[in-house]
Amino acid sequence: MPDTPLPTDLDLLGALGAVVGERGLLTAPADTAPYCEDWRRLYQGRTPAVVRPANTAELAAVVRLCAGHRVPVVPQGGNTSMVGGATPSEDGRQVVVSLARMNRVRSVDALDMTMVAEAGVPWRAAQDAAAAAECLLPLSISSEGTAQVGGILSANAGGNNTLRYGNARDLVLGLEVVLPDGQVWDGLRALRKDNTGYCLRQLFVGAEGTLGIITAAVLKLAPRPMEVEVALCAVPSVAAASELCRRFQAHDPAAVQAFEYMAGAGMGFVLRHIPGASLPIGEPAAHYALVELATPRKGARLRETLETVLEAALEDGLVLDAALAESEAQRQAIWKLREEHAEAQKREGASVKNDVSVPVSRVPDLIEQATAACEALIPGVRAVPFGHLGDGNIHFNLEQPEGWEAAAFLAQSHAIMEAVNAVVARLGGSFSAEHGVGRLKPGMMPAWRGGAELDAMRRIKAALDPWGVMNPGKVLP
Ligand code: MLT
Ligand code: ZN
Repeated sequence: MPDTPLPTDLDLLGALGAVVGERGLLTAPADTAPYCEDWRRLYQGRTPAVVRPANTAELAAVVRLCAGHRVPVVPQGGNTSMVGGATPSEDGRQVVVSLARMNRVRSVDALDMTMVAEAGVPWRAAQDAAAAAECLLPLSISSEGTAQVGGILSANAGGNNTLRYGNARDLVLGLEVVLPDGQVWDGLRALRKDNTGYCLRQLFVGAEGTLGIITAAVLKLAPRPMEVEVALCAVPSVAAASELCRRFQAHDPAAVQAFEYMAGAGMGFVLRHIPGASLPIGEPAAHYALVELATPRKGARLRETLETVLEAALEDGLVLDAALAESEAQRQAIWKLREEHAEAQKREGASVKNDVSVPVSRVPDLIEQATAACEALIPGVRAVPFGHLGDGNIHFNLEQPEGWEAAAFLAQSHAIMEAVNAVVARLGGSFSAEHGVGRLKPGMMPAWRGGAELDAMRRIKAALDPWGVMNPGKVLP
């Protein structure tokens, strides 16, 4: 990378301040500190400034200035990355660009079923705006109250409804992006068909801010569900959960909106650490499945579907016990048990996360084999697998053994990830299903994506960002 001037370069800070004004520039360490640490507290970076532009023109001017000074830029949304994707480096040379002030829903079109939202709109606010127009913005993740549109798209987030609606990528019709040289690409087209050259928008989705900064997007909406049914089931094994998922999909393929797995260990953490969490079924179990059925069709009688499939599963021993939500409050209480998994795990102690995917049918093998591999490596380690069984993405997380120091456990991170990844590779999976690569996993790229694939990625990066100023140190090794 070319020489970068000292980050405290007063010229640059003065020029940035002239663009974004006093409100838009933070330089005091106490003000910048929250932007320098990731949600998991894996990284404590330093930055000379956090710039908070109010609109695309300001952001473009900021990027142009930084590029001109060859000062790296780290885009940051809600700062909920699981892989340090939005955290600056420790050397204090990278400027953080926060999208938080660019938080307007520009429009919602219930006829075209699209919305235009700026990058800094919290995802839940975007969902609410869609709901106000009687539409659904499908993607749902645990951090949606904090995570923002730009970050969700840059990470190509997945979440709980991928089996029905796809990843963030599948919701994007158009984008507005500030390129590494400060040019603005206005690709905010709301077209369902548009075969006019390379599909640029998909290059920026999932690029984790390494190719440019997404400033706004045209998102696809779906019809709002008219009936929703949710059940929490205690099941005897992962294989039983898997078979239950298959049965629901066979019974009514269009109705399954989420199918999540949780191990007893993770459920135990939620019940212990999350105020108000309680188990709606009699006995704690070693395995749980959460199923959500939803349909925009009126009179679809999803309750009957739910009961029919569950009754047969109970008879066949695939389900041990089940609680069916009778109200919206109960539906939310069941979802809370799933959505608080990451937070509860954080409160329990140090954890190593493996956000992996395998073909859906191989999930039981993944959990069985990865558990055995980790227990062999660190006796007493607590496996906490949970996640999106319906699409094959499991968070195969490990919690420190009781009585261990956090630091001693985290020193084993690499060995643990290697052990899990060896199983994942055998099963034809991926080492990062939905959290991305960020700062945590670029070192894994050569082994998993090396050769022609990584070479093409590097060439794309060099073509768009020849000075390497866009979120350096992320994704590419
Ligand atoms: C989730 O689905 O809750 C997350 O992606 C959390 C995690 O990996 O811990
Ligand atoms: Zn997840």
